[in-house]
Amino acid sequence: MENSVTIVVPTYNEHDNITPLVEKISKSISRYDYEILFIDDASSDGTAGVIESLKTSYPVRVIVRRDEKGLASAVVKGFENARHDLIVVMDADLQHPPEIIPQLLDAIAGGADVAVGSRYVPGGGCDEWSGLRKLLSRGAILLANMALPKARRVKDPMSGFFALKRKVIEGVRLDPIGYKILLEVLVLGNYNQAAEVPFQFQLREQGKSKLDLNQQYEYLRHLARLSIRSGEFARFMKFCLVGASGVLVNYGLYWILTRFAGFNPISDTSSGVLSGNIALTISIETSIITNFILNNFFTFSDRNVGGFGGFFKRLVHFNLICIIGGLIQIGVANLFAVVFGVNDLIAVLIGIVIAFFWNYLLNNYLTWKK
Ligand code: GDD
Ligand code: MN
Repeated sequence: MENSVTIVVPTYNEHDNITPLVEKISKSISRYDYEILFIDDASSDGTAGVIESLKTSYPVRVIVRRDEKGLASAVVKGFENARHDLIVVMDADLQHPPEIIPQLLDAIAGGADVAVGSRYVPGGGCDEWSGLRKLLSRGAILLANMALPKARRVKDPMSGFFALKRKVIEGVRLDPIGYKILLEVLVLGNYNQAAEVPFQFQLREQGKSKLDLNQQYEYLRHLARLSIRSGEFARFMKFCLVGASGVLVNYGLYWILTRFAGFNPISDTSSGVLSGNIALTISIETSIITNFILNNFFTFSDRNVGGFGGFFKRLVHFNLICIIGGLIQIGVANLFAVVFGVNDLIAVLIGIVIAFFWNYLLNNYLTWKK
């Protein structure tokens, strides 16, 4: 069975690309038992007809959807109808070189559950792209990395060219919007190992790309939906809640220390500035520690590993990151208030927001590493 593979190809108006694609695929994976399953969204240029006409010479099938549209959901349809347990997904327009398929399958045979054709590992690329499209692509990846830690498992989570074992998606409700089917698989699928195989994203010679501004918007919607469905949004809200509790601890302790425990308020400099600032430092550090404990057992309870050693190491990380966050807050507030002349209350707020994101992202990726 390991030598049987279904190649899922979404198509929309790819009339001229089908025959060369099928010929190239069949050449590149002749040692496999394979089928090519096209999911066509009722193309108006006769794409489905070309596929039908190839049936006598090649193991091809086409499912025509009339009720639904969209690249990613077409691929899900392909998953549902694939006959084999090994599945490859690729575009029809020859921008994904079929010669790479055996390397993807080798990576799976070597132990990977998902193998991604990647533009962003050494040897991969997309030289012909305009600077703007490259920038958009990088920006999209950056956003995904920030919102969805699992996207970081590979360098090119936006690739539309990949292989996977069926068990990765079995029982998983995939519900993608737009183009980025791999992102959905990486975030919601069940897998241990993800491998990457470099490839050069080719120039499109026939037909035209369907990626437009609307797709960029759909991408943002998809990210938001995935962050909710994967629990990452809930995590962020928990981090906010813990942060708010830290403000109470910080403020409350300062109040107790200076009003009931004999420390001077920082405004009272009659006997020097030391006493008040010691009270403030104790308050800040205490709130960092309570925040850490709450985050460890609440916000990141699923990544609370390594026993006491791990706990302590994270405590040190968290502390360092929060201290740098404090400095960033001071720096940003001063930058806006002094250099840009912004109202100080707004400047301080900007500082808080930026330091907050700093704390969230850095701790998400360094302290409670996945
Ligand atoms: N069934 C179906 N329905 N197929 C579609 C649809 C649709 O609504 N829209 C596009 N396709 C098919 C195309 O016919 C093609 O085979 C493939 O999906 C990719 O579409 P393109 O329009 O050529 O996309 P692209 O080249 O801009 O984007 C590719 O590269 C991106 C990375 O930069 C895709 O592979 C993306 O998935 C990938 O993220
Ligand atoms: Mn394309």
